[in-house]
Amino acid sequence: MTDILNINHLVITPKKQPERCLVKAVSFALRAGQTTCIVGESGSGKSLTALSIMGLLSEQLQASGSIQFHGQELMSLDNQALQHIRGAKIGMIFQEPMTALNPVLTVGYQIGESLTAHLGLKGDALRAKVAHLLEMVGIPAGRANSYPDELSGGQRQRVMIAMSIACEPSLLIADEPTTALDVTVQAQILKLLDELKVRMNMAMLFITHDFGVVADIADHVLVMFRGEVVETGTKEEVLGNPKHPYTQALLACVPDAEGRKTLKPIDYSWLEASA
Ligand SMILES: Nc1ncnc2c1ncn2[C@@H]1O[C@H](COP(=O)(O)OP(=O)(O)OP(=O)(O)O)[C@@H](O)[C@H]1O
Ligand SMILES: [Mg+2]
Repeated sequence: MTDILNINHLVITPKKQPERCLVKAVSFALRAGQTTCIVGESGSGKSLTALSIMGLLSEQLQASGSIQFHGQELMSLDNQALQHIRGAKIGMIFQEPMTALNPVLTVGYQIGESLTAHLGLKGDALRAKVAHLLEMVGIPAGRANSYPDELSGGQRQRVMIAMSIACEPSLLIADEPTTALDVTVQAQILKLLDELKVRMNMAMLFITHDFGVVADIADHVLVMFRGEVVETGTKEEVLGNPKHPYTQALLACVPDAEGRKTLKPIDYSWLEASA
């Protein structure tokens, strides 16, 4: 099976402080029809890793290494070439749908924008495709004429998902897409993403700090800690038999089956011992 995405030795540093690695020599591959979760505490470099794949790193940062998408090196592409890939072949969903949606345009119009830009769809063909996409994400097609503030948080996230899959990308990157939603809606969105992944045979890169989410949807897991991948494996390997002390500590903070939170602070003594 060929890889959809292949990241090799990705290093991200501030331009002004090249000795300070925010992401250190990260390597991994993503395959069609599989979900890889990046999990790790706040500031561990999860979002920077995702942004670098899309060429959306801040001007203040620089990346080195290799990011191959279907065998094509993305690191050497200019912004115009990356724009053709973003939103068409690589879909993206972020945490806050309200900030990503334009409040003065209908959701139907916004879903249609990338279909027109990337696939040249117009008129009836465009309207039919938008209706189909809304139905795929569980929103009645008639809501195409609604504005974002007329929808619930979960519906807005569904609209974002419809936008992200509109051009049938082979890779979907989701950065904490359910964090702002309540638990029931979160479960529905996870189920939807999982179904779409299977139906469209996409590779999915899913960023979260929640091991419950990992248990729900991951095939593979990467655990990041302070810019490094400290553990990687299948979900069963990482959750069932965590090798790294940081993963063990994180898992110890997860609520047990009865939902009791064992609020143990993470014990970092292993870090001092290894330093
Ligand atoms: N433009 C920037 N300049 C300097 N440092 C930055 C910049 N952007 C991010 N960082 C730093 O890089 C590190 C990794 O950030 P990143 O956003 O990838 O973390 P994260 O794992 O996604 O965290 P969270 O779970 O809070 O979203 C953090 O320490 C952050 O402060
Ligand atoms: Mg982040």
